[in-house]
Amino acid sequence: MEKINARLGVNIDHVATLRQARGESYPSVVEAANICLNHGADQITIHLREDRRHIQDTDVEAIRLVTKKFGKPLNFEIGVNPEIIDIAIATAPDWICVVPEKREEKTTEGGLDLKNETTFKKVQEACALLKSKIPGLKISLFVEGDEEILKLSKQIECDAVEIHTGDFARAHLNGEDTNPFLEQFKKSLNLCSELGLAHHAGHGLTAESVKPLVAENLFVEYNIGHWIICQAVFEGLAKVIQNLKVEIQG
Ligand code: PXP
Repeated sequence: MEKINARLGVNIDHVATLRQARGESYPSVVEAANICLNHGADQITIHLREDRRHIQDTDVEAIRLVTKKFGKPLNFEIGVNPEIIDIAIATAPDWICVVPEKREEKTTEGGLDLKNETTFKKVQEACALLKSKIPGLKISLFVEGDEEILKLSKQIECDAVEIHTGDFARAHLNGEDTNPFLEQFKKSLNLCSELGLAHHAGHGLTAESVKPLVAENLFVEYNIGHWIICQAVFEGLAKVIQNLKVEIQG
């Protein structure tokens, strides 16, 4: 099967997590965005959480300037929260990915529960508002690849769904059978093609777990963060030690 040219969105929240852990000005998310976009990333993804645990308001502005400089999209993940929606409108990103957000979660733990009427209405209203305020904006909804949820997504003003791949990725890491997930992704792809929604993927993916998805052309966009930053530690550690040793010993 000929591979489609899928896009890679790099989520750089985890760079901000490292910075916030020490309250210093490094590592710089601006530098991270520059490096990613200089080396083939197709977009930068960031999530401004209500509790500001990683990305800060000033990061959003600065990263927006970097994506504009490269002419590449900023994909801004947001929960349906009035304060964050106002910031999104002021930022005018290319894409907004609407995600569920709970304060107590370690990371986004699943897709939007659109079967819940209150959630559906809130997301629907937020998307209509965002589309009316940001010309040319595209919206994706972070959801599970469930038939009813995909059909509900279509009733909302959106352009794509980002399918939650976290459970698949964990099964892959644990060496479990991932065929049921792959079958489900094939079904969600077919349904999305019928509905006219682009089919994106995100959460928990690694260079290994992305392979079967890419081999089957299951998604046009992959948003990956945690594994990239973790892997960058090991691909960069030897060089950093060598350089520091030269500084110390000459
Ligand atoms: N997509 C969405 C909607 C997310 O919430 C996240 C995590 O912030 C990602 C993609 C990236 O996930 P990970 O960091 O596990 O690669």
